[in-house]
Amino acid sequence: MAEETHIDTRPPEGANPDWTVPQDWSAYSETDHRTWDTLFARQAKLLPGRASQSYLRGLDVLKLSKPGIPDFEELSDRLMALTGWQVVAVPGLVPDDVFFDHMANRRFVAGNFIRRPDQLDYLQEPDVFHDVFGHVPMLADPRFADYLEAYGRGGLRALELGALKQLARLYWYTVEFGLIDEPEGLRIYGSGIVSSYSESTFALDDPSPNRIRFDLERVMRTDYRIDDFQQSYFVIPSFDELLRVTIETDFEPVYERIVGKPDIAIDAILPEDDVITRGTQRYAREKAAE
Ligand code: PHE
Ligand code: FE
Repeated sequence: MAEETHIDTRPPEGANPDWTVPQDWSAYSETDHRTWDTLFARQAKLLPGRASQSYLRGLDVLKLSKPGIPDFEELSDRLMALTGWQVVAVPGLVPDDVFFDHMANRRFVAGNFIRRPDQLDYLQEPDVFHDVFGHVPMLADPRFADYLEAYGRGGLRALELGALKQLARLYWYTVEFGLIDEPEGLRIYGSGIVSSYSESTFALDDPSPNRIRFDLERVMRTDYRIDDFQQSYFVIPSFDELLRVTIETDFEPVYERIVGKPDIAIDAILPEDDVITRGTQRYAREKAAE
């Protein structure tokens, strides 16, 4: 077991010690670029009026609408000028400490491969479309850029404190599947939603899922599902507020307090929740009955 873990934490052949690899932009095929363009066109049509203002602004200022898979060097130049972040390529998932260390140094790790044309809607590991289209626009927002850097440092700390599971839930329910309450209405900003054709509608419009106001401790106690649409979404009031509460709160006592408490089920609503939508959970029920 220890032996295996050891092997798993070494970068693959040809990768740098920090697990990065060259993006190798010229190696993408015409099909690869066309897959990006297809996915881009589909999402770009859907997102105005659904995605957060911050996300849409990021998409625009980073010029992600340029045809073909973005060149990370060009993208990093733009991003660096805006918020000091870079995008670096990795061959796939990397160990937690490596991931956090890059983040704490304002380097966003992105998969350099793209899904096959027959996998437009589903894939197991994050590819360049999820990572770049889904995550990078938010990094053009200075508050979100600060949040993710702080999260990287918090991740290294959570590893030491044995609280990775709790901290990972915060990432899941904000960075990956977060909703925000904007003056015009609820909007999506989580990368897992904005990069998904079906979930970008489901998360906002479907009566099935719960939509609950964000509470740090509540989120850190809540399970999540990685195989299908979420059964609960958490809604932040603003990026300023998300940044404020996560930076001002020392997580160590929070971790200590919640290890003694039971986990909260993915579809649960608690008496103390500030509920925006009480979901019917019809979607999950029908899926389970299949
Ligand atoms: N305040 C957190 C801690 O004490 C660090 C953190 C900041 C984590 C922002 C996530 C997001 O560990
Ligand atoms: Fe992601």
